[in-house]
Amino acid sequence: MTDTAQPPYAVPEFGKDPSDPPTVPLPPVSAGADGPSGALSGLETRDLTAWFGQRKVLERVSLRMRAGEITALIGPSGCGKSTYLRILNRMHEMVRGAALAGEVLLDGEDVYAPGRRPAEVRRRIGMVFQRPNPFPAMSLYDNVISGLKLAGIRASRDERDHLVESSLRQAGLWNEVSNRLGTPGGALSGGQQQRLCIARSLAVSPEILLMDEPCSALDPTSTRRIEETIADLRHRLTIVIVTHNMQQAQRVSQSCAFFLASHDTPGRIVEAGPTAQLFTDPADPRTADYVNGRFG
Ligand SMILES: Nc1ncnc2c1ncn2[C@@H]1O[C@H](COP(=O)(O)OP(=O)(O)OP(=O)(O)O)[C@@H](O)[C@H]1O
Ligand SMILES: [Mg+2]
Repeated sequence: MTDTAQPPYAVPEFGKDPSDPPTVPLPPVSAGADGPSGALSGLETRDLTAWFGQRKVLERVSLRMRAGEITALIGPSGCGKSTYLRILNRMHEMVRGAALAGEVLLDGEDVYAPGRRPAEVRRRIGMVFQRPNPFPAMSLYDNVISGLKLAGIRASRDERDHLVESSLRQAGLWNEVSNRLGTPGGALSGGQQQRLCIARSLAVSPEILLMDEPCSALDPTSTRRIEETIADLRHRLTIVIVTHNMQQAQRVSQSCAFFLASHDTPGRIVEAGPTAQLFTDPADPRTADYVNGRFG
């Protein structure tokens, strides 16, 4: 198949989901402040290929992101890391003309199976973006629980209070904001705003958390703080993080995948495996060149 071959099918456009999400009771706070939950979920892609219009940007990407681990995705700009991440939780289809082939398996079940609702997938696979994006005029309290309605989760006042506290604790922000939950999200520092966004993601009890360069807009101190938070979350859920910071990949992740694209070929995984191995004893010379800063 050439890079301009027709995609086998177009993903349905976001928002065309026929049924409104049913309201469901609050899921158990699987990763509550009280301790880790039971089984954790893993994620896997098989032969994932993606297009924007006629342009193929990812080619047959197969990767296992193991339950309870932090997997780092690294690679030069434009190689498809963000696209890959957005495919994992069905955000890719929000882009007009976007298409894909292959499978995304959450605990062995394809998130693109017919009848599967995107909103349900996005509740189970949360996302934190490069720039902190809290609702600036909304209180910290309401920011944390702002995802509940969209996820179709109803909760009593007591449950909401508990959720706000446990989510902020897990995000490592509770001690800094517990006495000012009514202040607006926009009043926090950049690093605090990013932890608020992490708390917002955690409030709907995701099984997987995707993070797209979550520290790239932050100073070194805030970056450290977020990295501590990520490390603390590791035993509670499965994390996939895109980073351009090689030190960060080594500090936070157990597994690592190196993506690469050239000007006329789509992004592919060159090498994936234990982080220590990728950084100290990579199998492919291109990996060695990249992790040692010789290109990209
Ligand atoms: N909405 C879009 N429409 C068309 N092409 C897109 C769109 N988003 C991304 N692309 C293209 O897809 C390719 C992969 O982009 P992507 O953003 O996934 O790369 P990336 O690895 O995340 O890069 P960076 O490290 O700079 O964030 C690029 O060639 C990009 O130009
Ligand atoms: Mg990106």
